[in-house]
Amino acid sequence: EKRKSRQAEVNIGMVGHVDHGKTTLTKALTGVWTDTHSEELRRGITIKIGFADAEIRRCPNCGRYSTSPVCPYCGHETEFVRRVSFIDAPGHEALMTTMLAGASLMDGAILVIAANEPCPRPQTREHLMALQIIGQKNIIIAQNKIELVDKEKALENYRQIKEFIEGTVAENAPIIPISALHGANIDVLVKAIEDFIPTPKRDPNKPPKMLVLRSFDVNKPGTPPEKLVGGVLGGSIVQGKLKVGDEIEIRPGVPYEEHGRIKYEPITTEIVSLQAGGQFVEEAYPGGLVGVGTKLDPYLTKGDLMAGNVVGKPGKLPPVWDSLRLEVHLLERVVGTEQELKVEPIKRKEVLLLNVGTARTMGLVTGLGKDEIEVKLQIPVCAEPGDRVAISRQIGSRWRLIGYGIIKE
Ligand code: GTP
Ligand code: MG
Ligand code: MG
Repeated sequence: EKRKSRQAEVNIGMVGHVDHGKTTLTKALTGVWTDTHSEELRRGITIKIGFADAEIRRCPNCGRYSTSPVCPYCGHETEFVRRVSFIDAPGHEALMTTMLAGASLMDGAILVIAANEPCPRPQTREHLMALQIIGQKNIIIAQNKIELVDKEKALENYRQIKEFIEGTVAENAPIIPISALHGANIDVLVKAIEDFIPTPKRDPNKPPKMLVLRSFDVNKPGTPPEKLVGGVLGGSIVQGKLKVGDEIEIRPGVPYEEHGRIKYEPITTEIVSLQAGGQFVEEAYPGGLVGVGTKLDPYLTKGDLMAGNVVGKPGKLPPVWDSLRLEVHLLERVVGTEQELKVEPIKRKEVLLLNVGTARTMGLVTGLGKDEIEVKLQIPVCAEPGDRVAISRQIGSRWRLIGYGIIKE
């Protein structure tokens, strides 16, 4: 076995329009149904980002790929290739900023498109635009629910997909017909993952950086104070590694009130435990969901309160910004709506929704220049100059992606 570690080495996003089959495909690949929250089960949609890992394996006998220790096609024992993590994003139009937070952790993505609907649907467009905006080029298209259509319809849908991706980052993406529900053609999809979504080259000597997607208080109600464990941060390491015992800093940190205004203060703590691939580990690396146990008061971390923070070595994290100067790139059309409206120029005093890594914040436009804006942030963000910021605007009752900005010094 090449790598004994239980930790995944690459994050693969599941993106696409609502109900096109992202969670079903995640299940087909990993055996895990990632919709677990009560509201997700009640409404039948994904609401929170789900993570599920799988081992990619190859059969030495018939050469086909799967995620199973026994080849589903010939019954021979398979060989380990690598461990991957799937990031299952929500497709509902109201959850676009959740998708964007997940997208910042993806090393590649599978755009799931249902073959029994006309292509593109609004969030098929909006999710592909999100990948384009963050510069994601490792894309595979899964033409799902293929068993619901006849050959004619499948080919017509294929032509629509081809036309849709022309001139986009996904222009050369393979289009693989599958049935997630029936597990059909999954071996071809897994082979495409091997061919099109490589594990990024990592420099383990870079200072660690983890983007926090969730945070928890893992204590059961009524736990006596001496038994309480510290707050837990969940997210993905994008650079370097973390170890049990490490001192860490968290930026922008925790809110406090000063003269009636909410401010944020970076906080330092120690890593008391690490989980990766669902197991306790001594060291954690980029790839998959990592859980960091800390000495923080769990009151600070409950209910995702620390989502959007960045974790690293004290003094080695990017700066925290209360306001940003952005070089702005607006789309021509609003892609997430049924009718593609024109994107109007940004106005002074307008409030925009900004996604920076896993952080989301509101920005009040205080300055306008040529292809440049200045925004005052409701919640500060920790980011590097040059980082990309997804810009959304409220149109009707929803936030719609309208473009991106690049953080200027
Ligand atoms: P959101 O997360 O809410 O955006 O949806 P999703 O893309 O995760 O879709 P999900 O996997 O929840 O599937 C939606 C519906 O499509 C469910 O009823 C699935 O059973 C069905 N479905 C998914 N894949 C297939 C498929 O290959 N064939 C058929 N017939 N139905 C499928
Ligand atoms: Mg889903
Ligand atoms: Mg669903």
